This record gives sequence, C-alpha cells and structure tokens, in this order.
Amino acid sequence: MAHFNYHSLDELKADIHALGLDDKIPLDDDFSVFSKPLKINEKFTVPRRFAVHPMEGFDSDADGKPGELAFRRYARYARGGFGLIWFEATAVLHEARSNPSQFWLHEGSWETFAKLLADTKKLARETNGFEPLCVIQLTHSGRYSRPEGAPKPIIAHHSLYLDPIHKLPPDYPLVTDDYLDRLQDTYVQAAKLAQKAGFDGIDLKGCHRYLMSELLASHTREGKYGGSLENRTRLMRETLAKIKAACPGLLLTTRMNIYDALPYPYGFAMQKDGSREPDLNETNWLIACLKEIGIPIVNLTIANPYYEPYYGRPFDVPIIGAPDAPEHPLQGVARFIDIVGKVQKANPDLPVIGTGYTWLRQYLPYAAAATLKLGKAAMIGLGRGAFAYPDTPNDVINKGAMDPNKCCVTCSRCTQIMRDGEHTGCVIRDAATYSKPYQAAKEHALARLKG
Ligand SMILES: Cc1cc2nc3c(=O)[nH]c(=O)nc-3n(C[C@H](O)[C@H](O)[C@H](O)COP(=O)(O)O)c2cc1C
Repeated sequence: MAHFNYHSLDELKADIHALGLDDKIPLDDDFSVFSKPLKINEKFTVPRRFAVHPMEGFDSDADGKPGELAFRRYARYARGGFGLIWFEATAVLHEARSNPSQFWLHEGSWETFAKLLADTKKLARETNGFEPLCVIQLTHSGRYSRPEGAPKPIIAHHSLYLDPIHKLPPDYPLVTDDYLDRLQDTYVQAAKLAQKAGFDGIDLKGCHRYLMSELLASHTREGKYGGSLENRTRLMRETLAKIKAACPGLLLTTRMNIYDALPYPYGFAMQKDGSREPDLNETNWLIACLKEIGIPIVNLTIANPYYEPYYGRPFDVPIIGAPDAPEHPLQGVARFIDIVGKVQKANPDLPVIGTGYTWLRQYLPYAAAATLKLGKAAMIGLGRGAFAYPDTPNDVINKGAMDPNKCCVTCSRCTQIMRDGEHTGCVIRDAATYSKPYQAAKEHALARLKG
C-alpha cells in the first residue's frame, strides 16, 4: 500500500493528479487566511483558523482528574498558537469512561479542570498574545465503555458490524429509555460544571459511534430514541436545549459524524442501498435543528475509528494486527475534505471545522489554506498532527512552513497505546515521554492477539 513519500509539493501534486483528486484536494500557498479572525457569535471570535481536535491522552487519575501529562499536553497546545483548543473526550459518568484514565468531570474533579483551563489560557496569552477559545467534549462511551479496563459495553442497538467485535450475544441488553432520559440531566450537570470551571463552551460528543453517535444510527431501536430521524436525534436535541436553558452564555456545539460509513440500517446518514455512500439529507436535517437551538459552530468528522479506521484517520501503518487500508491514503484525505466541504456549502451560515489533514504532513497547510479560501470549511483541526507537532500554527503563520522532521508520520502508535490502556501521545516526535508506554501497549497488544 502507498505511503507518504514526497519530497516536494510537486511530487504530491503529481499523485493527487494521477489519482484524479485535483478537485477534492485543492492546494494554495497563500497562508494569510490562517490569521483571519473568525467571528463565531456575538461573544466569541477566534483569532486563528487552526484548532486542536479533541485527543484523549488517557492520563487522568482514577477519579478522572487531569494528571501531570495532561497538563503537559495542554501546555504544548497553548504554546503552539491554536485559535481553538477542543479539550478531549471527558466522561460524564464513571461507567461512561472508555478507559480508567479517561477524563471524568464531576463535583470532585471540576477544580482540576478549572486549573488546567486557566493554565492553558494563561500560557497561550503569555506566549502568543491571545487566548484560544476553549471547548470541552462531554461524552458517554456507550459501546466502548471500559471504566475498569475490561469492556463493559452500553449499547443503543444491535449492529451486524459492531457486535462481533466484542462478541455481543443477540440478547445483550440495550440501554433503556429511562437511562437515556436521566442521561440528559447528567449532561446538564456536567455542562454546569464545565461552565463553572471556566470553559467557553461544551461539545455534546456525537461522533465516532460512542453512545450519542450510536443513537443517531439507531434505526432498528424501538421507542422514543429509535427509528425515525426525529427519535434518533432526540437525545442530542433535547439535551442541548436543556443545557441552553441551564447555562446561559455557554457556547454549545457538537463534534458530529457527517455519516458513519456503516451500511444502512446500522449507520447514520447512509444511503438506503446498503452501500457506504452518505445521505447528506440526514446530516443537514440535524444541522438545521442545531442551528435552531443556537449552535454557532460544529466540528465535523466521519465513520468509526474501531471499524475501518482508514475512513476517519488516513494512515501509513495500521495498529498491530489490523489490516492495511484498501485504498491510497490520499483517497481518504480527499473523501474527508470533500464531504466536509459539501456540508459547509450546504450550510454557509454555520462555520464548520474540518478534519483529515494530518496525513499530508508538511503540505497540510496548502490543502488547509485552499479549503478555507474556497469556503469548504471555516477552520482546520488537527488530531494526531497536534500530538506530534503542536507548534504547527506558529510555524505556518510565523515561518511560512512546517518542519518535515516534526510532522506526524501516521504510524498509528498513539492509537495503539490508546487501545491498550496506557498514557498516549506521539511515540515518534515525543519519544522520551511516550516510547515506554508504547512498548507496554505493544506487548499487551501482541499478548491479546495471541489470545
Ligand atoms: C489517540 C487518539 C485520541 C483521540 N481522541 C479523540 C477524542 O477524545 N475525541 C474525538 O472526537 N476524537 C478523538 N480522536 C480522533 C481525532 O480527533 C481525529 O478526528 C483523528 O485523529 C483524525 O484527524 P487527524 O488526521 O488530524 O489525526 C482521537 C484520535 C486518536 C489517534
């Protein structure tokens, strides 16, 4: 399979052209667009068009409080010059954690979040002369809950594609409507704590097939949270409306899947012909509801990282034991940039944050600048790229270039660590901190595969 192997922009352009992707991966060398402020609403304007995507580091203590490595990660982002820092998936209940070291926001932990946030803003202000907008992602891990380390799935529907991964029997119980009703209030409590901690906004995580995202796809579920589009989106819509009433002034948003890339009836926003093709009518219907609630920005992503991850995070090397991608990574990059552009074009009044640029390494600013200029996204987010190279915004804006030796090489090692229960970060570019956890994760993965 093809790997990143470009020594000039022209070499990259040649491959883009050979694959017939010129219109899907536009390139532009005018980087001035990154420092054009973006007005999000009456209260918030972000000074730069680069965002850190939420990236779990799994470095909280048992009680969910961000630990030393978390403070280090956010300090790196703060220094790097991002206009928006989207704090990682933070569980709203212990049972909702995807890992015993996932952030967990509750009465006993919010003050540590307040300190993490204050430190991040202060360092950014001192280093760059501005404060980034700070949003925290609130989550229930649902099918991927592992609060004590072992899987404890909480599922909204049975899935032909996802149940076999955890060997779930056909009679494995579904989460009840009562639980989901109560969960609405749990999210409201968490949003209040996030506001008390000083966050500018909260993200009701609706992506990557965690619980809220699985509900969006619960065609086969009965009752008020399943079946019709109205029912499937109920948890998100009703909870956002409740938070709006309970937390005046708090920016509300979601990181949502544009589509799941899991065939109907097991995916959100899918064509009904059993293909992997999206039906953007569902996506745009939900976005219309979000706009009505007053959501001023959305962060867009796709698919499920546990199932065919090449859709959502194009890579050179898969995690241990996983198959290689059946396509050139540039096709994944192109699909991602293109579909975000379609949603942005359909909703020109709502700024959207795009994903999928990291694989392009030092050439990502060219694709990002063109995307912004063409109105195919309003901001560009970096996930693995921010782990590896948190100084990306400052280097692009102040020096006009990224250093190839600092870029993420999409080796999937950060994902491997995440799956195998250690603290995660960039194993290649931040090796002194993360090569040890990677070795432990690797041994664990190999033992797991041996059975
Ligand atoms: C280690 C790791 C942790 C992640 N944590 C989160 C998370 O907390 N919330 C989320 O929405 N996405 C999460 N993601 C997905 C990224 O935000 C991003 O969508 C993905 O890596 C693709 O973007 P990229 O190509 O810039 O890396 C994570 C990805 C990785 C590899």
